[in-house]
Amino acid sequence: MDIQAVIFDLDGVLVHTDHFHYLAWKELSDEKGIFFNEEINQRLRGVSRMESLEIILERYEGEPLSAEEKERMAEKKNGIYREYLSRMTPSDVSEEVRETLDELKERGLKLAVGSSSKNTGFILEKTDLAHYFDAVSDGTMITRTKPDPEVFLLAAKLLGAEPEKCLVVEDADAGIEAGKAGGMLTAAYGEAAKSGKADYRLDHFRDILKVQETD
Ligand code: BG6
Ligand code: MG
Repeated sequence: MDIQAVIFDLDGVLVHTDHFHYLAWKELSDEKGIFFNEEINQRLRGVSRMESLEIILERYEGEPLSAEEKERMAEKKNGIYREYLSRMTPSDVSEEVRETLDELKERGLKLAVGSSSKNTGFILEKTDLAHYFDAVSDGTMITRTKPDPEVFLLAAKLLGAEPEKCLVVEDADAGIEAGKAGGMLTAAYGEAAKSGKADYRLDHFRDILKVQETD
């Protein structure tokens, strides 16, 4: 089977904004007296902002919160998060990532971003990554987030690629499950590489090139 397209998750794969998500949620949790640590943070990978908040609120011991209060908390977190994002520059993307994307393009592969984040456009702009991609599918365009395959199926559709010829690169177990549910090949990077759920495991970002060579 040949790979025609590669669909990249954004946070934790192309850039290390996963750490900024953690710092922003941590600040909000501390302020509200909610216990939150790196381990709980792993469950937030790939899931939407409101779903992330619900996971954090599992440890909330105060009075029940209204939908409006939850909305305000999510907005507050996003404000803190965007402060971090606003300070990003192209140097926040590693040479390894840029060289790998260049090489994949040279090989004639179509490239897309498939991210649950509604901040995708802002991040791609700040880091000067947008020009590598033939399509972007993100949290502003979908109704169901990972592990639902919607975001990746939309990316494949925008690329005009058949799902079974797409390779999804993900750092979240939810994202690996989403790729599989969409009938795509999956490559785990970072945290997701620990669970062994994907078709391929990437020890380094550039190992995507080996997957494509051996396929
Ligand atoms: C995903 C992250 O990429 O985007 C999640 O892995 C995050 O942790 C989700 O909750 C939504 O991001 P945003 O930027 O729309 O709040
Ligand atoms: Mg991710």
